[in-house]
Amino acid sequence: MDTGDTNLSNSDNRSLSPSVTPIRTYLSVLDLTPDSLEACLGVAERLKQERRMGFSAPTTSALSGHSLALLFDKPSLRTRTGFEIAMRELGGTVTCPPSADALGTREELADVARTLERWVSVAAIRTFEQSRLYEFVKATTKLRIVNALTNEEHPCQALADCLTIKERCGSVQGQTLAYIGDGNNVATSLTHAASMLGLNLRLASPKDYSLPEESLAAARQAARHGAEILQFDDPVEAVRGADAVYTDVWTSMGQEVEASHRRDAFSGYRVTDSLMNEANPDAFFMHCLPAHRGEEVDPAVIDGARSAVFDQAENRLHTQKALLLMMLQKI
Ligand code: CP
Ligand code: NVA
Repeated sequence: MDTGDTNLSNSDNRSLSPSVTPIRTYLSVLDLTPDSLEACLGVAERLKQERRMGFSAPTTSALSGHSLALLFDKPSLRTRTGFEIAMRELGGTVTCPPSADALGTREELADVARTLERWVSVAAIRTFEQSRLYEFVKATTKLRIVNALTNEEHPCQALADCLTIKERCGSVQGQTLAYIGDGNNVATSLTHAASMLGLNLRLASPKDYSLPEESLAAARQAARHGAEILQFDDPVEAVRGADAVYTDVWTSMGQEVEASHRRDAFSGYRVTDSLMNEANPDAFFMHCLPAHRGEEVDPAVIDGARSAVFDQAENRLHTQKALLLMMLQKI
């Protein structure tokens, strides 16, 4: 089996590929070096190929003896199920304590972390404020911790998004992506990853809903290969010259009381066929899902030939597998 320059075998070989810097936490894409980010995508591509081998894949017991705890304060299909399947296919196990027991008021978050570190190797946490993750990280020195989405960032999604662009365009570097809509958690992580990989970004959001200044500043600081981040008011201007057009929901989990106000504020920011026609001729459509057809995107776009959304969804699995292998020092 050709495993190339990264060790993807079942053996407990702890030597990392030279391009991977070990990390204990993945709270943000910025926790990775650009080289580690690229290596992670490369491993995910290989895992995707090798999945066809089923039980003969070289990684079927790579995480044998390891357990992952999924602590989710908000609903999830792709992230939660993606991690469950990932661990199963890598030979590890998963535990899902109810959120009321692990993330509620029953006991301090620090005590949950200190208990779990005795049993499991990794915790993937989906919650509200990012500061809750910092609290968790501070309480343990052993546990690996993954941000499975917070109000501020969604770094697991960005890995799948970049893999999808790489597959469709041949490379991420030098492509141009337009992001239309809310400058939210998905937009922040995408901006971080894009700038680290040399992907140009053109962002268009309504006034008061643009990407936070600190997300922009951090992305600009991490930029490589001359990645450009440009902001526009007008979605038509933003999509001109774009190889892909991305949007996300106008109302994220936890913001439901603002839904009606947001529908008004974002009404000119729907991705329609006519907006897609302003982008490059082969431009494809991206969305992290779940989507609201008729709000941020027209059904003709998300269900049409230019849609890449289920490739993104599929790639959540392969990239989360690669991330777990990297954090447990198996690549
Ligand atoms: N895109 C995404 O994170 O999906 P879930 O909310 O279903 O996990
Ligand atoms: N911005 C969305 C992403 C869902 C995957 C939310 O936070 O609800």
